[in-house]
Amino acid sequence: MALLKIARMGHPVLLAPAAPVEDPTAPEIRRLVADMAETMADASGLGLAAPQVHVPLRLFVWRTGAGGVSALINPTLEFVGEETELGWEGCLSIPGLRGAVRRATRLRFHGFDIDGNPVDGEAAGLVARVMQHEADHLDGLLYPMRMEDFTLFGFNEELARAATKEG
Ligand code: NI
Repeated sequence: MALLKIARMGHPVLLAPAAPVEDPTAPEIRRLVADMAETMADASGLGLAAPQVHVPLRLFVWRTGAGGVSALINPTLEFVGEETELGWEGCLSIPGLRGAVRRATRLRFHGFDIDGNPVDGEAAGLVARVMQHEADHLDGLLYPMRMEDFTLFGFNEELARAATKEG
């Protein structure tokens, strides 16, 4: 396994729609998923999408609620209900910053695993947020593009300092 170089905001690979994975069982996809999982863990991320490691394909990995890592290839997300919530997000491609983004609270996801089996599941709360964030990467969208209120955007250190002063 190997650590991959993470693309940072400004790199065109982050703005381009990614292409479907033709063969989820291909050895290079298995290797990519393993390397992405290692890269995500090394960077203490909650999720990582292939375009973030300069691979313009539709797949992402995320940290599951139980502390494991899952991968979804050619994912589709389907929102369950109308409920949304505002929550803080960061991105390994936008280091040091965070911002508040409105996301659906619950969703169903579909896709394939690295054995080519169909995957279906449900997610809520933080995991649902991470999946929406990662799916956006596959469409060339970064979380600031989803933001409604830029007063809720800043450097982690400054936001932490401001929160301490308030409290
Ligand atoms: Ni991100």
